[in-house]
Amino acid sequence: MLAGAAVIGSCADDATTEAHTHHTDDTPALARSTTGVTRNRLRVPPVVGLGGLVLTAKPGTATIIPGKSTPVWMYNGSLPGPTIEAAQGGPAAVTFQNALAEPSITHWHGHHADPANDGHPHQVVAANGSYAYQLTVAQRAAMNWYHPHPHLRTGEQVYRGLAGAFILRDAVDTGSATNPLGLPAGAYELPILIRDASFDSAGALQFSNKSAGFLGNTPLVNGTYQVELPVDAGVYRFRLLNNCNARVLRLALNTGAPFLIIGNDGGLLDAAQSVTEITAAPGERFDLLVDCSALGKDSTLMLRDRAAGWDVLQFRGTGTAGVKCAIAKGSPLSTITPLTVGATVTTRRFSFDAMTAINGKSYDMNAVEFSVPFDTTERWVFVTNGNGPHPVHVHGCHFQVVSRTGGRGKVFEWERGWKDTVLLNDGETVEVNIRFTAAKGLYVMHCHQLAHEDSGMMANFAVV
Ligand code: C2O
Ligand code: CU
Ligand code: CU
Repeated sequence: MLAGAAVIGSCADDATTEAHTHHTDDTPALARSTTGVTRNRLRVPPVVGLGGLVLTAKPGTATIIPGKSTPVWMYNGSLPGPTIEAAQGGPAAVTFQNALAEPSITHWHGHHADPANDGHPHQVVAANGSYAYQLTVAQRAAMNWYHPHPHLRTGEQVYRGLAGAFILRDAVDTGSATNPLGLPAGAYELPILIRDASFDSAGALQFSNKSAGFLGNTPLVNGTYQVELPVDAGVYRFRLLNNCNARVLRLALNTGAPFLIIGNDGGLLDAAQSVTEITAAPGERFDLLVDCSALGKDSTLMLRDRAAGWDVLQFRGTGTAGVKCAIAKGSPLSTITPLTVGATVTTRRFSFDAMTAINGKSYDMNAVEFSVPFDTTERWVFVTNGNGPHPVHVHGCHFQVVSRTGGRGKVFEWERGWKDTVLLNDGETVEVNIRFTAAKGLYVMHCHQLAHEDSGMMANFAVV
């Protein structure tokens, strides 16, 4: 099941390798200080395969701020959870064990799971309970992620540390002799989970469940505080997730150099896009190539969040040669088959209202609000009456963004191809074409601002 076993998460130099294998209870390795900030080496979670995986959610402690012990909730004792990596195939048996003191269930965000294996709030298991999944990988390569999905408690459980990357492979992504995309791999491909958090003076996480959404006052990358990544002089593939509860990031490099965007929620784009800033809403993923080949030994490059004015992740040159990658702006990457609709298409309109409702109705776990025919393309229109941003997420499929009117007024480079989460800001109308081809049964759509989700901005629907 494990494609390219343990390729993610090892880095080139010895010191870094040691840091990567450390237990989350250990003090992170310290990097040299620049501009008065002592930086901690990026944590890289262990890589695990899918078949036979047991994921246990359990309280524990981690050293996030050096010298302080932070109570967190972790999958398999890792912050973030282990990176799951899977090739096409299955079904694979995966077990979720709930060692929290409250109900939980694990949802595989972006996975085309049938309803019994999706992690719907209905499937919640009590403390000490477990849930057995059978997960098949039949969709194109992408970075999905996994996180808790109990009704009313998702926000806090994610905030306390429960989230992990779930990377799917296929022949296009991995490449072959006849189709060599040549994407950076092994030490040069890393999951980058960015979230915000607030700490008290003892190092404990601070949280409040207000429906406007909790904004932490400091960024963490893979659970690492004031973080630095040693980089060889070459190209890196970063599998980036906005893992914040509520914060929208505007990511840019301090030099103004562009990112090459090669993929998003639903995998590789049709062609590589070049942008200097990316707006990333909670739940969205970005597959980025960052060229560090000009970084000499000890010179630095900073990934920043221009919305908060934060330094998020510093790259520091090792002086060692890295890998090259021939992909440039416009390079073809994958085939995206357009979802097209005719004049008689079924159009559904969803209004995201007042932080707690969709089309005026708060989440009713026992209702089925609408039914969608299997394998039929529909046009869904997302609008809002304020209280944005609303990252709109649909389970069980990917969709294609057709238009955005009002507000930012365009479809962005990173919204091409296949998406499962799309940002709806105040004043915006976003239209998507959507088709369910995975399975029939009960799914949910919801706002991925987790306080909105927990406050009822979620709806059940059935694929029939
Ligand atoms: Cu990541 Cu139902 O969501
Ligand atoms: Cu999801
Ligand atoms: Cu919302």
